[in-house]
Amino acid sequence: MSRPKLLVEGVSRVFPGVRGAAPVRALEPTNLSVAENDFITILGPSGCGKSTLLRIVAGLDRPSTGRVLLDDRAVIGPGADRGVVFQSYTLFPWLTVQENIAYGLREKGVAQNERREIVSAYIEKVGLRGFENHYPKQLSGGMQQRTAIARALANDPAILLLDEPFGALDNQTRALMQELLLGIWERERKTVLFVTHDIEEAIFLAARVVVMTARPGRIKADIPVDLPHPRHYRMKTSPEFSELKARLTEEIRAEAVLAAEGH
Ligand SMILES: Nc1ncnc2c1ncn2[C@@H]1O[C@H](COP(=O)(O)OP(=O)(O)O)[C@@H](O)[C@H]1O
Ligand SMILES: [Mg+2]
Repeated sequence: MSRPKLLVEGVSRVFPGVRGAAPVRALEPTNLSVAENDFITILGPSGCGKSTLLRIVAGLDRPSTGRVLLDDRAVIGPGADRGVVFQSYTLFPWLTVQENIAYGLREKGVAQNERREIVSAYIEKVGLRGFENHYPKQLSGGMQQRTAIARALANDPAILLLDEPFGALDNQTRALMQELLLGIWERERKTVLFVTHDIEEAIFLAARVVVMTARPGRIKADIPVDLPHPRHYRMKTSPEFSELKARLTEEIRAEAVLAAEGH
């Protein structure tokens, strides 16, 4: 096998207790290997350490043990080689759609002509033509997330890290956004790590679903999704999809029960 794009080796995270409280073990030592161009979803109940893991991969937090390698290089902080999109809107409110998308390119010193071309291409890809000069507050939640995805992709990152990016959207918009992201991935084959607690979303998007246990989180299952591409929303009612959904529902239910009991 060729070298993995991303390697998470024995990564754990313990948060110190606040005001004398016991430390919080958020993540047990975790290993994960992601091949280039793979689309992995990380599925787990709320509080199981998904965001903690993603933030460590993003370089926004440091692991208590272990290390993260991206393209064989240790991650020691945030970097332009990782495009990150969170659930809550993280656009710069004082910049327009096109200025938001251009932000990273400007930081990298990409010349204005080239910048304009790249931004225009991504505006097209995420369907924001006509909204180039709008400010984030003038956009719907779905449009803001499309801008955030375009901003992340415009930098041509080695890996795209998404933390419940559609979690705040209504179901219709969410379904459309899943198709949009999948369409981009099918054309461009980025390496993607996508965190969600939504079982259908995890299956629909992924080539592999990685299931995490309740806190302290660790990986309890790694399940390939053999649904063909291009994927269409009608697949969500196919027998293969339903079978996977039933299996993952069992896995997640057991963890959600444990989490609710406060383990
Ligand atoms: N900065 C922090 N300080 C203390 N505890 C934290 C911090 N961040 C997360 N935690 C705790 O770690 C656990 C995992 O959190 P998180 O990774 O956000 O879970 P998830 O994203 O799966 O919902 C939770 O119990 C949470 O309260
Ligand atoms: Mg989270």
